[in-house]
Amino acid sequence: MRKTTPGLESLIAPFSLSKFLTHHWPRKHFVIHGGRKTVKPLLELPQLQSIDALVESWPDKVLVNLPDFDDEKNSISMNQNDARKLYDSNLNLIFLSPEEHFPSIGIWLDKIRKDLSMTLAARPRCIVYASPNGKGAKPHFDQNTNFILQVKGQKRWFLAPNKNVTYPLTRHVMNSKVPVDLLPYSQLPFPKKMPKDSIEIVLKPGSLLFLPRGLWHTTEAMGESISLNFTFTPPTWIHYLISALTNQLSSDVRWRDTADGITSANSKTKKEALQKFSGLLRSLSEELKNADAKDLLLNSENRKVRYRRRPTSKVSIGAKVVSVRSQGGLVKLELDKPLRSLLIWICRNRSLFDSSDIINRFHELDTEERVSYALESLVEADIIEPVIDRV
Ligand SMILES: [Fe+2]
Repeated sequence: MRKTTPGLESLIAPFSLSKFLTHHWPRKHFVIHGGRKTVKPLLELPQLQSIDALVESWPDKVLVNLPDFDDEKNSISMNQNDARKLYDSNLNLIFLSPEEHFPSIGIWLDKIRKDLSMTLAARPRCIVYASPNGKGAKPHFDQNTNFILQVKGQKRWFLAPNKNVTYPLTRHVMNSKVPVDLLPYSQLPFPKKMPKDSIEIVLKPGSLLFLPRGLWHTTEAMGESISLNFTFTPPTWIHYLISALTNQLSSDVRWRDTADGITSANSKTKKEALQKFSGLLRSLSEELKNADAKDLLLNSENRKVRYRRRPTSKVSIGAKVVSVRSQGGLVKLELDKPLRSLLIWICRNRSLFDSSDIINRFHELDTEERVSYALESLVEADIIEPVIDRV
C-alpha cells in the first residue's frame, strides 16, 4: 500500500511523479479523480469539513467576493462571523494562507514546493475557497500555477487555451480593464466569453487539478464546495536576469552614478545623457559576451540581502504606535495595519528573512516596492538590520 507522505507524489497518486514532471509540469494541465488514500490527511482535516468548521477554526479575517464583480480582485476583508453571514447570502469566501494556522497544510506546501525544485521566491501559499451553490470564479487567467484539491462538494471547471497571451506576468479577469503591463505582449482584444474550445472538468472530493499559469478558466460550485489550492509563482528568466544584472551593475561605479539629464527639457543635456547611457550599454554588451550564466546566478543568489531583528533594540508594539528604544534613543512611530502585522511577525521571528518571505505572508504588502519601503522604514527605525547572507 502506498504510504501517505505529504508531497506532490501523494497529491497526484497513483500518477507517477516523474511522468508528471516530464509531461505536465509546468505547462500542461493535469487532472486525477477519486477519494485517493494518499490525500486522505488533507481531505479529512477537521477544519475543512464544512463551512461552519472552517469559520469556527479560523482565527483571521476572511475575504468575501463582492457580488457586483464576483471575483477576488473585488473583495473585502472582514471578520469570520460577518463573512459567514454573507456566505449564506450566496457570496464566495476566500481564506488566505491556511498553512499559517493549520500546520499540517504547511508541511504539504513546503514539500510540494521542494518536489518542484522551487525556492521561496516562488511565493508558495495556500488558499481555501468556500463557494455556495452556483458560485465560483468568473473567467480569468492567472500569472501563477495552481494545484487544486477538491475537499468537499463538487465544482465544475471550464479550461481553455489562451490564444491572446502566453506566460502572462499579471492576472486578468475577462471583461475587466486590461492591466497596462499586459498590453505590450498581449494579442487584443481579449475574448468576452469562454472560448469555444473550452473543456469541462467536474472536480469531486479527492480530485486534483493542476492548472498551469495563463489558461483561461472559470468555475461554478455544484452544491456547497470547499477546495484547497496550493499556489506558486515560479520565477521567470526575467527575474533571474534582473537579479543578476542588478547585482553585477551595482558593483560598478559608472552604473551607480545618478542618471541625470535623461528627462531634461534641455536638448543638449538630454543628448549627452543618452550618449552616456548608450556608452554604458555598449560596454555591458561586451561584458555579457563573456559572461558565464552560472557565475552570474551564483553571485546574485549569494549576495541576496536578508534581514534580522536588531537584537539591541527594544520594541514595544501598541495599537497604533510602536516605541523603539535603541542606541539612538527612543523613537515612536505611527503604524498602519499591514506594518503592525509585519512588526508582530518580525518580533516573533528569530530567523533571517527576505522580501519574498514578507510578500508570501502579508498580502497587503504584495509588491516589491511596498515591501522595500516597509523594510527601509524598519531599518531606519533600528528595528531590523540587513545581513548579507550566503545561501
Ligand atoms: Fe484562477
